[in-house]
Amino acid sequence: MSSSNRLLVKNAQQVVLICSGGQKYLTGHELQSLSVIENGSVVIGGDGLIKAVGPAETIAARFSEATFDKVIDASGMCVLPGLVDAHTHPVWAGDRVHEFAMKLAGASYMDVHRAGGGIHFTVEHTRAAAASDLLTSLKSRLVRMQRAGTTLVECKSGYGLELHAELKMLQVIEEAGRSLPINISSTFCGAHAVPRGKTEAEATEDVLQVQLPLLKEQMSAGNLKVDNIDVFCERGVFDVASTRSILRAGKDMGLNINFHGDELHPMNAAQLGAELGALAVSHLEEVSDEGIAAMAEAKTAAVLLPTTAYILRLPQPRARDMLEAGVIVALGSDFNPNAYCCSMPIVMHLACVNMKMSMTEALAAATINAAYALGRSHTHGSLEVDKHGDLLLLNATRWEHLIYQLGGHQELVRYVVVKGNVV
Ligand code: NIG
Ligand code: FE
Repeated sequence: MSSSNRLLVKNAQQVVLICSGGQKYLTGHELQSLSVIENGSVVIGGDGLIKAVGPAETIAARFSEATFDKVIDASGMCVLPGLVDAHTHPVWAGDRVHEFAMKLAGASYMDVHRAGGGIHFTVEHTRAAAASDLLTSLKSRLVRMQRAGTTLVECKSGYGLELHAELKMLQVIEEAGRSLPINISSTFCGAHAVPRGKTEAEATEDVLQVQLPLLKEQMSAGNLKVDNIDVFCERGVFDVASTRSILRAGKDMGLNINFHGDELHPMNAAQLGAELGALAVSHLEEVSDEGIAAMAEAKTAAVLLPTTAYILRLPQPRARDMLEAGVIVALGSDFNPNAYCCSMPIVMHLACVNMKMSMTEALAAATINAAYALGRSHTHGSLEVDKHGDLLLLNATRWEHLIYQLGGHQELVRYVVVKGNVV
């Protein structure tokens, strides 16, 4: 008999589905306990999609092992959906290890930025870098993320700040997605900073009149695929009016709105996100009560980034207030030269310890809710029939080890599977 199924993962101690009713996100009391099968199996079909998930004996009765290309005996292991990282800046040249010392000595993020460091430093190096070098470093970063369990990752441009360098970054992201078995959601972030020598008004004009029209042309010609639009809405960077005009223009092109807001100063960015129908606003360390209520109402996800608050010693994002108000809370690593973290398990650990999230809240935030923030929760973020067969197998008998163990994930994450293939 010819085999028609790609992978059987059988007899896992726990299979963490996250949810099992086709939910697009989880909020409030739904986060108190996630859907888990004790002693379960997962079937991934020849198309890479989940065909069945259930108790081991039910699956064994339904499917003959002879029909599978590969069988993994997961006895003593846990199976979880692949992790989703909802916010990264992974394409850049020139690290900023020197700035870490400055920050430890007391310099703030904006002190470093105004002194010509920060994003400006990275922009200079990224503009000068060859696309092939950016691709090589991006791929090695994505592989590191994948080894820690990430199977869907949002990747931003934003260290070009002018047409050609921004397009170069987006092309590099697309090429990485073609050559690696990892799912990417790609984001145009040409308004990540005001480039040196320009005013905010000039930079806004450049994004609106030059970068976005050319991006649209490339997308319509089928040369480039981009999913989201982002702006760094911050005092001294892009104000609310500029942010609104750029995000609206992006939305008119069919991009999802997913932007940086209320990070260092309260800007009413959360309200702006709700007004514009944003899928997500990231950071939100300085969000107001009104902003929280507006996001809950509009179903705009809050992408919280525990590494940023940790490294910059910022106030912690108000995760508890958001969860209690019914906001869709997601997590991201914010991987960038300021926050050099490729590991979603560390992000979940920080979210639990520093932001007071429970482990079930953190796992949902790093799976189904992060997928929602990227407009992908119909295909990713939980182990449900017809979703992508993206999963992790943990060398542990309880899934909570993924968050409890701080670091050392190469040992803990035994297999990473993308569309039914072990990667
Ligand atoms: O999300 N806040 C703006 N953007 C990034 C930092 C980028 C950088 O410092 O290079 C962030 O933390
Ligand atoms: Fe960011």
